[in-house]
Amino acid sequence: MVKAQTMQYQGIIFDLDGVICFTDEYHYQAWKRLADELGVAFDREKNNRLRGVSRMASLDIVLEDYPEPLAEAEKLALAEQKNETYKSLLATMTPADLPEDVKATLLALRARGLRLAIGSSSKNTPFILRQIGLDGFFDAVSDGNNISKSKPDPEVFLKAAQMLGLEPEQCLVVEDAVAGAEAAHRGGMDAACVGDASQAKAGTYNLSSITELLNVVK
Ligand code: BG6
Ligand code: MG
Repeated sequence: MVKAQTMQYQGIIFDLDGVICFTDEYHYQAWKRLADELGVAFDREKNNRLRGVSRMASLDIVLEDYPEPLAEAEKLALAEQKNETYKSLLATMTPADLPEDVKATLLALRARGLRLAIGSSSKNTPFILRQIGLDGFFDAVSDGNNISKSKPDPEVFLKAAQMLGLEPEQCLVVEDAVAGAEAAHRGGMDAACVGDASQAKAGTYNLSSITELLNVVK
């Protein structure tokens, strides 16, 4: 926390799934359903390896124990099947699924004059932001629809910083994924971690709750 006293961030780039809302649980449920249908083992520990990772790279991890190689078309169909399950879970979300502590933290950061962005690997980002009432809230949204390389590659965060008109070192990334924290560091950004990544001590700051961001950022 020593660094917090000296660092003046101007932009905060938030991961979405598992940071802004608990869609990470829906990813788990949707992959679990697919894995059960395919007869491959899948548990929460394996699910943690999917955090921040693209849909197709996630499928490859889910299929690690599948007995035979699958053609690309079959893999695309399985990824689509998982996404349909996932989207049906997202459709049940409402603004009540934006946690109060997240909402309060976002509003407090904005009141301090910080520029706020999303940096997510998810192609479902626009849908999720609409569901939880954050459509149009962020100054920039960089997501799975405008990147070619998924975390741990820094592309999604570098594009978010660029959209904010800031240099990477002026930005702080907030992440729940070890792959996401690595992406931030590779992009020259500090990372404040929550959840799984915080437990793994992957961040510049490892927080026990998102409200602690208000102590890290001036
Ligand atoms: C990330 C999630 O935000 O988005 C990953 O942490 C997920 O678990 C990735 O695989 C891609 O999401 P989507 O919605 O495009 O399938
Ligand atoms: Mg995440």
